[in-house]
Amino acid sequence: MAAFFSAQIFLPSVLRGVTLDSHLKPLRLGFMTDCHATSERNAPAWLDQTAPLMNSLRPDLIIGGGDFVDGGFHLPGSTMEEHWKLAGSFLKKIEARVEPVIGNHDFYEPLRADGTPSRNDPRWRFKKQFSLERTYRSFEYGGYRFIILDSVNLVGGFTPYRGLIDDAQLLWLDQELKSIPLNQPIILCTHIPFKTSLNIGFGTLLASSQGRFHVLNSDLVMEKLKDRPVILILQGHVHINERIELGEIPCITGGAVCGNWWHGPNMGTYPGLGVIEILPDKGTIGRTRSTEWNYSNTPTPPQT
Ligand SMILES: [Fe+2]
Repeated sequence: MAAFFSAQIFLPSVLRGVTLDSHLKPLRLGFMTDCHATSERNAPAWLDQTAPLMNSLRPDLIIGGGDFVDGGFHLPGSTMEEHWKLAGSFLKKIEARVEPVIGNHDFYEPLRADGTPSRNDPRWRFKKQFSLERTYRSFEYGGYRFIILDSVNLVGGFTPYRGLIDDAQLLWLDQELKSIPLNQPIILCTHIPFKTSLNIGFGTLLASSQGRFHVLNSDLVMEKLKDRPVILILQGHVHINERIELGEIPCITGGAVCGNWWHGPNMGTYPGLGVIEILPDKGTIGRTRSTEWNYSNTPTPPQT
Protein backbone atom coordinates (compact mmCIF):
# COMPACT_ATOMS: atom_id res chain seq x y z
CA MET A 1 0.00 0.00 0.00
CA ALA A 2 1.00 3.57 -0.55
CA ALA A 3 1.81 5.97 2.28
CA PHE A 4 -0.61 8.47 3.64
CA PHE A 5 -0.38 11.55 5.79
CA SER A 6 -2.88 12.85 8.27
CA ALA A 7 -3.16 16.33 9.63
CA GLN A 8 -5.49 18.11 12.01
CA ILE A 9 -6.44 21.75 12.05
CA PHE A 10 -8.05 23.05 15.22
CA LEU A 11 -10.02 26.16 14.47
CA PRO A 12 -10.37 28.77 17.17
CA SER A 13 -13.66 30.59 17.65
CA VAL A 14 -12.02 33.82 16.57
CA LEU A 15 -9.55 33.81 13.70
CA ARG A 16 -7.79 36.88 12.27
CA GLY A 17 -10.20 39.03 14.21
CA VAL A 18 -13.26 37.31 12.75
CA THR A 19 -15.72 35.31 14.84
CA LEU A 20 -16.38 32.07 13.01
CA ASP A 21 -19.84 30.54 12.72
CA SER A 22 -20.47 28.60 15.94
CA HIS A 23 -22.34 25.93 13.99
CA LEU A 24 -19.33 24.84 11.95
CA LYS A 25 -18.97 21.09 11.88
CA PRO A 26 -15.79 19.04 11.56
CA LEU A 27 -14.72 18.27 8.04
CA ARG A 28 -12.70 15.31 6.88
CA LEU A 29 -10.95 16.48 3.78
CA GLY A 30 -9.12 14.08 1.49
CA PHE A 31 -6.19 15.39 -0.51
CA MET A 32 -4.67 13.52 -3.40
CA THR A 33 -2.41 15.24 -5.85
CA ASP A 34 -0.09 14.52 -8.75
CA CYS A 35 -1.51 11.18 -9.82
CA HIS A 36 0.32 11.43 -13.17
CA ALA A 37 -1.73 8.69 -14.81
CA THR A 38 0.33 6.91 -17.47
CA SER A 39 0.47 3.44 -18.95
CA GLU A 40 4.18 3.20 -18.12
CA ARG A 41 6.11 2.07 -15.05
CA ASN A 42 3.30 -0.02 -13.56
CA ALA A 43 1.30 3.11 -12.87
CA PRO A 44 -2.13 1.57 -13.60
CA ALA A 45 -1.57 -1.15 -10.99
CA TRP A 46 -0.38 1.41 -8.49
CA LEU A 47 -3.40 3.61 -9.11
CA ASP A 48 -5.55 0.51 -8.53
CA GLN A 49 -4.06 0.31 -5.04
CA THR A 50 -4.44 4.00 -4.41
CA ALA A 51 -8.21 4.19 -4.86
CA PRO A 52 -9.06 1.82 -1.98
CA LEU A 53 -6.52 3.62 0.23
CA MET A 54 -8.25 6.93 -0.42
CA ASN A 55 -11.65 5.35 0.21
CA SER A 56 -10.45 3.74 3.43
CA LEU A 57 -9.63 7.18 4.86
CA ARG A 58 -13.36 8.00 4.61
CA PRO A 59 -13.13 11.61 3.45
CA ASP A 60 -16.26 13.77 3.21
CA LEU A 61 -14.81 15.55 0.21
CA ILE A 62 -11.58 15.19 -1.77
CA ILE A 63 -9.49 17.90 -3.35
CA GLY A 64 -7.60 16.61 -6.37
CA GLY A 65 -4.50 18.79 -6.43
CA GLY A 66 -3.68 18.62 -10.14
CA ASP A 67 -1.53 16.63 -12.56
CA PHE A 68 -4.15 13.93 -12.87
CA VAL A 69 -2.33 12.80 -16.01
CA ASP A 70 1.31 12.69 -17.03
CA GLY A 71 2.96 14.51 -19.89
CA GLY A 72 0.68 17.36 -20.89
CA PHE A 73 3.44 19.65 -22.09
CA HIS A 74 5.43 17.20 -24.19
CA LEU A 75 3.24 14.27 -25.24
CA PRO A 76 0.88 14.23 -28.22
CA GLY A 77 -2.86 14.44 -27.72
CA SER A 78 -3.38 10.79 -28.71
CA THR A 79 -1.14 9.64 -25.85
CA MET A 80 -2.74 12.10 -23.46
CA GLU A 81 -6.15 10.66 -24.33
CA GLU A 82 -4.89 7.25 -23.11
CA HIS A 83 -3.66 8.87 -19.92
CA TRP A 84 -6.97 10.64 -19.37
CA LYS A 85 -8.74 7.29 -19.80
CA LEU A 86 -6.54 5.79 -17.09
CA ALA A 87 -7.17 8.78 -14.84
CA GLY A 88 -10.88 8.52 -15.50
CA SER A 89 -11.07 4.84 -14.56
CA PHE A 90 -9.07 5.58 -11.39
CA LEU A 91 -11.37 8.45 -10.45
CA LYS A 92 -14.42 6.24 -10.97
CA LYS A 93 -13.18 4.04 -8.14
CA ILE A 94 -13.04 6.98 -5.73
CA GLU A 95 -16.21 7.04 -3.65
CA ALA A 96 -16.29 10.61 -2.31
CA ARG A 97 -16.83 13.72 -4.40
CA VAL A 98 -13.59 14.94 -6.00
CA GLU A 99 -13.08 18.64 -6.70
CA PRO A 100 -10.19 19.07 -9.14
CA VAL A 101 -7.45 21.69 -9.37
CA ILE A 102 -5.66 21.97 -12.71
CA GLY A 103 -1.95 21.12 -12.87
CA ASN A 104 0.61 21.77 -15.58
CA HIS A 105 0.49 18.13 -16.77
CA ASP A 106 -3.25 18.44 -17.31
CA PHE A 107 -2.67 20.74 -20.29
CA TYR A 108 -3.35 19.38 -23.77
CA GLU A 109 -0.90 20.18 -26.58
CA PRO A 110 -0.23 23.64 -25.17
CA LEU A 111 2.76 24.38 -27.42
CA ARG A 112 3.31 24.60 -31.14
CA ALA A 113 6.36 22.99 -32.78
CA ASP A 114 8.37 26.18 -32.34
CA GLY A 115 7.65 26.26 -28.61
CA THR A 116 5.20 29.14 -28.68
CA PRO A 117 1.78 28.79 -27.05
CA SER A 118 -0.91 27.10 -29.13
CA ARG A 119 -3.94 29.08 -30.18
CA ASN A 120 -6.17 26.23 -29.04
CA ASP A 121 -7.42 26.05 -25.47
CA PRO A 122 -4.89 23.76 -23.72
CA ARG A 123 -7.25 23.36 -20.75
CA TRP A 124 -10.13 21.92 -22.75
CA ARG A 125 -9.43 18.25 -21.91
CA PHE A 126 -9.29 18.92 -18.18
CA LYS A 127 -12.54 20.89 -18.35
CA LYS A 128 -14.19 18.13 -20.36
CA GLN A 129 -13.07 15.46 -17.91
CA PHE A 130 -14.63 17.26 -14.98
CA SER A 131 -17.50 19.00 -16.78
CA LEU A 132 -16.20 22.44 -15.83
CA GLU A 133 -16.63 25.71 -17.65
CA ARG A 134 -13.63 27.27 -15.93
CA THR A 135 -10.51 26.03 -14.22
CA TYR A 136 -10.96 28.46 -11.30
CA ARG A 137 -14.02 28.68 -9.13
CA SER A 138 -15.29 28.72 -5.59
CA PHE A 139 -17.88 26.61 -3.83
CA GLU A 140 -19.22 26.01 -0.37
CA TYR A 141 -19.10 22.69 1.40
CA GLY A 142 -20.28 22.14 4.97
CA GLY A 143 -20.01 25.84 5.82
CA TYR A 144 -16.47 26.11 4.45
CA ARG A 145 -15.59 28.05 1.32
CA PHE A 146 -13.19 26.49 -1.15
CA ILE A 147 -11.39 28.74 -3.59
CA ILE A 148 -9.86 26.75 -6.43
CA LEU A 149 -7.22 28.58 -8.44
CA ASP A 150 -5.55 27.94 -11.78
CA SER A 151 -1.91 28.59 -10.99
CA VAL A 152 -0.40 27.52 -14.33
CA ASN A 153 0.44 30.41 -16.59
CA LEU A 154 1.47 29.39 -20.09
CA VAL A 155 4.34 31.40 -21.56
CA GLY A 156 6.06 29.03 -24.02
CA GLY A 157 9.78 28.83 -24.64
CA PHE A 158 12.43 27.03 -22.63
CA THR A 159 10.47 27.21 -19.37
CA PRO A 160 7.00 27.02 -20.90
CA TYR A 161 4.92 27.78 -17.82
CA ARG A 162 5.24 29.67 -14.58
CA GLY A 163 3.25 29.87 -11.38
CA LEU A 164 1.02 32.90 -11.67
CA ILE A 165 -2.57 33.85 -10.92
CA ASP A 166 -3.61 35.75 -14.01
CA ASP A 167 -5.45 39.06 -14.15
CA ALA A 168 -8.78 37.44 -15.03
CA GLN A 169 -8.66 35.41 -11.83
CA LEU A 170 -7.60 38.36 -9.71
CA LEU A 171 -10.59 40.32 -11.00
CA TRP A 172 -12.86 37.33 -10.51
CA LEU A 173 -11.64 36.92 -6.93
CA ASP A 174 -12.51 40.54 -6.14
CA GLN A 175 -16.07 39.90 -7.33
CA GLU A 176 -16.36 36.50 -5.71
CA LEU A 177 -15.30 37.79 -2.31
CA LYS A 178 -18.24 40.18 -2.33
CA SER A 179 -20.59 37.21 -2.11
CA ILE A 180 -18.58 35.24 0.46
CA PRO A 181 -19.63 35.89 4.06
CA LEU A 182 -16.91 37.69 6.00
CA ASN A 183 -16.77 34.99 8.65
CA GLN A 184 -16.73 31.97 6.34
CA PRO A 185 -13.57 29.88 6.71
CA ILE A 186 -11.67 29.73 3.44
CA ILE A 187 -9.57 26.88 2.06
CA LEU A 188 -7.39 27.93 -0.85
CA CYS A 189 -6.39 25.25 -3.37
CA THR A 190 -3.56 25.69 -5.87
CA HIS A 191 -1.42 23.26 -7.84
CA ILE A 192 1.78 25.31 -7.86
CA PRO A 193 2.59 26.24 -4.26
CA PHE A 194 2.18 29.68 -2.79
CA LYS A 195 5.08 28.77 -0.55
CA THR A 196 7.37 25.75 -0.44
CA SER A 197 10.53 24.89 1.40
CA LEU A 198 12.01 23.81 -1.92
CA ASN A 199 12.39 27.43 -2.85
CA ILE A 200 13.54 28.42 0.60
CA GLY A 201 16.06 25.58 0.67
CA PHE A 202 17.48 25.72 -2.83
CA GLY A 203 16.72 29.25 -3.94
CA THR A 204 17.63 30.11 -7.48
CA LEU A 205 19.19 26.69 -8.05
CA LEU A 206 15.63 25.57 -8.70
CA ALA A 207 14.84 28.48 -11.00
CA SER A 208 12.65 30.09 -8.37
CA SER A 209 12.90 33.42 -10.10
CA GLN A 210 10.99 32.00 -13.05
CA GLY A 211 8.14 30.77 -10.92
CA ARG A 212 8.63 27.12 -11.73
CA PHE A 213 8.06 26.00 -8.16
CA HIS A 214 5.95 28.72 -6.63
CA VAL A 215 3.33 31.26 -7.61
CA LEU A 216 5.07 34.52 -8.39
CA ASN A 217 2.21 36.81 -7.40
CA SER A 218 0.73 34.91 -4.47
CA ASP A 219 1.10 38.10 -2.43
CA LEU A 220 -1.61 39.75 -4.54
CA VAL A 221 -4.03 36.96 -3.70
CA MET A 222 -3.15 37.01 -0.02
CA GLU A 223 -3.60 40.77 0.09
CA LYS A 224 -7.19 40.32 -1.07
CA LEU A 225 -7.70 37.74 1.66
CA LYS A 226 -5.92 39.60 4.44
CA ASP A 227 -9.07 40.18 6.48
CA ARG A 228 -10.58 36.77 5.76
CA PRO A 229 -10.35 33.65 7.89
CA VAL A 230 -8.18 31.58 5.58
CA ILE A 231 -7.66 28.32 7.46
CA LEU A 232 -5.62 26.32 4.99
CA ILE A 233 -3.72 26.45 1.70
CA LEU A 234 -3.52 23.14 -0.16
CA GLN A 235 -0.73 22.72 -2.71
CA GLY A 236 0.72 20.10 -5.06
CA HIS A 237 3.29 20.13 -7.87
CA VAL A 238 6.53 19.51 -6.01
CA HIS A 239 5.79 15.91 -4.94
CA ILE A 240 6.83 16.27 -1.32
CA ASN A 241 4.93 16.14 1.95
CA GLU A 242 5.36 19.46 3.59
CA ARG A 243 3.68 21.56 6.24
CA ILE A 244 4.79 25.15 6.47
CA GLU A 245 3.07 28.44 7.18
CA LEU A 246 2.42 31.52 5.11
CA GLY A 247 1.99 34.18 7.74
CA GLU A 248 -0.07 32.24 10.23
CA ILE A 249 -1.87 30.23 7.60
CA PRO A 250 -0.92 26.57 7.29
CA CYS A 251 0.17 25.35 3.87
CA ILE A 252 0.05 21.64 3.22
CA THR A 253 1.89 20.39 0.18
CA GLY A 254 0.72 16.87 -0.51
CA GLY A 255 3.13 14.15 -1.45
CA ALA A 256 2.34 12.83 -4.91
CA VAL A 257 0.27 9.75 -5.60
CA CYS A 258 3.03 8.86 -8.10
CA GLY A 259 5.91 9.69 -5.72
CA ASN A 260 8.96 10.33 -7.86
CA TRP A 261 7.05 10.17 -11.15
CA TRP A 262 6.62 6.41 -10.69
CA HIS A 263 10.24 5.82 -9.69
CA GLY A 264 9.70 5.29 -5.96
CA PRO A 265 9.93 7.97 -3.22
CA ASN A 266 10.67 11.59 -4.09
CA MET A 267 13.13 13.29 -1.74
CA GLY A 268 11.97 11.00 1.05
CA THR A 269 8.26 11.35 0.35
CA TYR A 270 6.65 8.03 -0.54
CA PRO A 271 3.88 7.73 -3.10
CA GLY A 272 0.62 8.49 -1.36
CA LEU A 273 -2.11 10.88 -0.35
CA GLY A 274 -3.63 12.29 2.78
CA VAL A 275 -6.52 13.35 4.91
CA ILE A 276 -6.92 16.57 6.84
CA GLU A 277 -9.38 16.85 9.70
CA ILE A 278 -10.68 20.34 10.27
CA LEU A 279 -11.93 20.57 13.81
CA PRO A 280 -13.79 23.64 15.00
CA ASP A 281 -12.65 24.33 18.56
CA LYS A 282 -15.45 26.32 20.08
CA GLY A 283 -13.90 26.44 23.54
CA THR A 284 -10.90 28.56 22.66
CA ILE A 285 -11.46 32.23 22.07
CA GLY A 286 -8.91 34.72 20.82
CA ARG A 287 -6.09 32.39 19.98
CA THR A 288 -3.76 34.00 17.54
CA ARG A 289 -2.45 30.79 16.05
CA SER A 290 -4.93 28.88 14.02
CA THR A 291 -3.55 25.38 13.86
CA GLU A 292 -1.96 22.52 15.62
CA TRP A 293 -0.46 19.64 13.84
CA ASN A 294 -0.07 15.95 13.92
CA TYR A 295 1.55 14.93 10.70
CA SER A 296 2.59 11.39 10.09
CA ASN A 297 3.56 9.10 7.27
CA THR A 298 3.40 5.39 6.95
CA PRO A 299 6.31 4.70 4.65
CA THR A 300 5.98 1.50 2.71
CA PRO A 301 8.25 0.73 -0.22
CA PRO A 302 6.50 1.08 -3.55
CA GLN A 303 5.94 -2.17 -5.40
CA THR A 304 6.83 -0.89 -8.84
FE1 LIG B 1 3.22 16.71 -10.68
